[in-house]
Amino acid sequence: MLGLRDLGPERLESILDRAESLLPVVRDGVALPNPVRPAMVGLLFLENSTRTRCSFEVAANRLGHRSVVLTGLGSSLDKGESLIDTAANLAAMGLDALVIRSAIAGGADLVARNIGIPVVNAGDGRHEHPTQALLDASTLRARLGSLAGKRILIVGDILNSRVARSNIHALTAMGATVVLVGPPPLLPWTFAEFGSGVDVTHDLDGVLDTADAVMMLRIQLERDAGRAVASDYRFAFGLTVNRLARLGPEVPILHPGPMNRGVEIDDSVSADIARSAILEQVARGVAVRMAIIEAALELPAG
Ligand code: CP
Repeated sequence: MLGLRDLGPERLESILDRAESLLPVVRDGVALPNPVRPAMVGLLFLENSTRTRCSFEVAANRLGHRSVVLTGLGSSLDKGESLIDTAANLAAMGLDALVIRSAIAGGADLVARNIGIPVVNAGDGRHEHPTQALLDASTLRARLGSLAGKRILIVGDILNSRVARSNIHALTAMGATVVLVGPPPLLPWTFAEFGSGVDVTHDLDGVLDTADAVMMLRIQLERDAGRAVASDYRFAFGLTVNRLARLGPEVPILHPGPMNRGVEIDDSVSADIARSAILEQVARGVAVRMAIIEAALELPAG
């Protein structure tokens, strides 16, 4: 699972269906009907993470597997060891699969081509974050039903967002139109080249009323996006209480996290009980990652 660009709608739906069937394991602690041979899953996280890393770890545990975590801090990468050598050494310890987050676009693919075990991309630079987009699609499908014909707004720092790129692939494959919204420095017109099913605008208020769902993105300060953004960002692109009031009562609000409260999203919006799906995304993320680990290990469905 390196990216969603080439995954067709049938494969996407089958992963989401499997994740849906695993959700009671996550939410209610229901035991897996058919426990599997325990595997060892490596988690190589070379960028900071709260949700993705812990979610993969919980997912592996829920499936009855074990995991070993290596982060950049404290590893021999600091001594100049390469990404490929690091991953190859982990694989040589007998891991059954490796989950990797890397700051390098294409980092997961590079590792996958150089080690002999399944690799799952947990985010590679600005490129893709496939399991995030799958959990977003799972959440949207649960709230909206079929995504065919739905308009999903993705608002914020599109330029630096691997979440946006993976969501474009997944949501358009499932028949939705993705409306990308952001300030010009963080949303170049080149994004229109994603083709049919993708609209691009710099005017949030002009498209807000058309939304079936709204996904807010943070400004990626770690990728220097802050310098490109004016101090009045919230007034032009923030999901404020006033903007929330213009959305229908059934329009879900998503955010991949971490949130910059008071910048792209107001406190009371993220806390809106009916519309905020933000923690539902996190819960579904575990089920999606269980389905992905299962598929990576090619273990029989429980
Ligand atoms: N959504 C997401 O990738 O969050 P983390 O960076 O905390 O893993």
